[in-house]
Amino acid sequence: MSLHSHPAYPNFHLVEHPLVAHKLTLLRDKNSNKKLFKELVHEVTLLLAYEATANLPLITTRIETPLEAADMPVIAGKKSVILPILRAGLGMVDAFLSLMPGARVGHIGMYRDEETLEPHTYFFKIPPSCHERIAFILDPMLATGGSTSAAITRLKAAGLSRMKLVCLLASPEGVERISVDHPDVKIFSAALDRELDEHGYIRPGLGDAGNRLFGTR
Ligand code: URA
Repeated sequence: MSLHSHPAYPNFHLVEHPLVAHKLTLLRDKNSNKKLFKELVHEVTLLLAYEATANLPLITTRIETPLEAADMPVIAGKKSVILPILRAGLGMVDAFLSLMPGARVGHIGMYRDEETLEPHTYFFKIPPSCHERIAFILDPMLATGGSTSAAITRLKAAGLSRMKLVCLLASPEGVERISVDHPDVKIFSAALDRELDEHGYIRPGLGDAGNRLFGTR
């Protein structure tokens, strides 16, 4: 698997791997049904999680193998926290939990005020002592980046300082927004798409991730 940071956005990491590329194409295909879409989101997220967790700190602990005592690495510090942005981020949670079953899970719900276009938080429930944990924010579609940026601002106000943003797809506008507002937050994505359209959809994109995951319209 190779990981490239973007020349213009040093905090943006494109996760490149033939399996990611192949599964992403299936995700984009409008003929992929809800069941397949959900499975593909899970599988691509597993591969993204592999990269997003690559520099988790390790400490050494002493264990007994059946043959001898040995000093071996384990992940240091408190369990990570997984923070899906509702609702499409929910589709990425199980992949992270399957790799890190002890991780805590918080939920963040955002909506955009139709008149002011300002993002608002309607739900914010994070586990205690989050400020001591490494956080993985799950937001499959980094579109304008407005509500994601607002969510990160809110998380910083709650004391979190070590956050990574994990997306399936990103738009240049969204990456720019997070890079400017939160240059300390690394973004991991399976693709950087061409543009945002006038309705806020990522192009070529994959459509509405929440609708495709949950079968709503
Ligand atoms: N949210 C989606 O689900 N899809 C987009 O293309 C943009 C935002």
